[in-house]
Amino acid sequence: MTKNIDLSTTVAGVNLESYIINASGPDCTTYEELQTIARSESAAVMMKSCTVEPREGNPEPRYQRLDFGAIQSMGLPNLGYKEYVKFSAQLRQEYGKPVIASLSGMCKEDNLKMVEAFQESPVDMIEVNFSCPNIVGKPQLGYDFEQTDKVLGEICKINSKPIGVKLPPYFDLCHFDMVAEIMLKHKVGFISCINSIGNTLIIDAETEAPIIKPKGGFGGLSGQYIKPVGLSNVRAFLERLKGQVAIFGVGGIVTGTDAFEYLLAGADAVQIGTTFEKEGAASFSRIAQELQAIMQRKGYSSIAEAKGKLREL
Ligand code: SIN
Repeated sequence: MTKNIDLSTTVAGVNLESYIINASGPDCTTYEELQTIARSESAAVMMKSCTVEPREGNPEPRYQRLDFGAIQSMGLPNLGYKEYVKFSAQLRQEYGKPVIASLSGMCKEDNLKMVEAFQESPVDMIEVNFSCPNIVGKPQLGYDFEQTDKVLGEICKINSKPIGVKLPPYFDLCHFDMVAEIMLKHKVGFISCINSIGNTLIIDAETEAPIIKPKGGFGGLSGQYIKPVGLSNVRAFLERLKGQVAIFGVGGIVTGTDAFEYLLAGADAVQIGTTFEKEGAASFSRIAQELQAIMQRKGYSSIAEAKGKLREL
């Protein structure tokens, strides 16, 4: 019924067969997990945000599902960047799908070292995570505009694979102006917005305690709770980036309608995290089919046709 609806898209010059990929976060840490994504309808394989050294992450419980999303303070558990450089070669060879590295250094030198390594690897794009809220004593770089400017200035000079930035949510219009200016200045290839809303607190009234252990219960909120923030961030950046920087929309995509709303707001593609954790890899094909159905009903036949077409009231 919907086979004429073309979900293919391009992000920073990389062709994606579909508008839907996994987000860095849940279930993309081990090679087995990455293989599951590679075999699914996710149009690319996004790997877990990595650090120079392997990390166990924060103490458990550190991830809890909620009625409309999740709260987590994982603390970047990962196998260390060298493993992901190896995985990228294996994945590229075995599956031929675009592979995206995600990295989250503890300091500028870490980020430079990892970007250099991934620039030499077979990955197609490199996402630098400036927005992990879960490391004690380490602020989210995306909220420090001076440092963001400085670090990106150095990272973007290294070689030619597209660099993207995973951004935290912003809540003030002047912050969109400032961040967009930095992204344009350094010619980043894409942004992924938004990461979880950091440092939220869910309290269980029965136990009179938080529901996750790290950081006194403070953790990143994701899922349907945050979709309106994700949509406004995508829209605000679309208006400021003048078509020069691609946008991955992230946050609260459960249905094809959610994915369509991100498309109207201006996303070039979307990333699915919390729903993938809850529902597994079948979520990518379900959301794609639902998106095709809504596009067909509305008379759109491609992603490009509907992108950014939010109407004025
Ligand atoms: C984590 O591992 O702490 C989540 C990653 C993130 O929020 O960027």
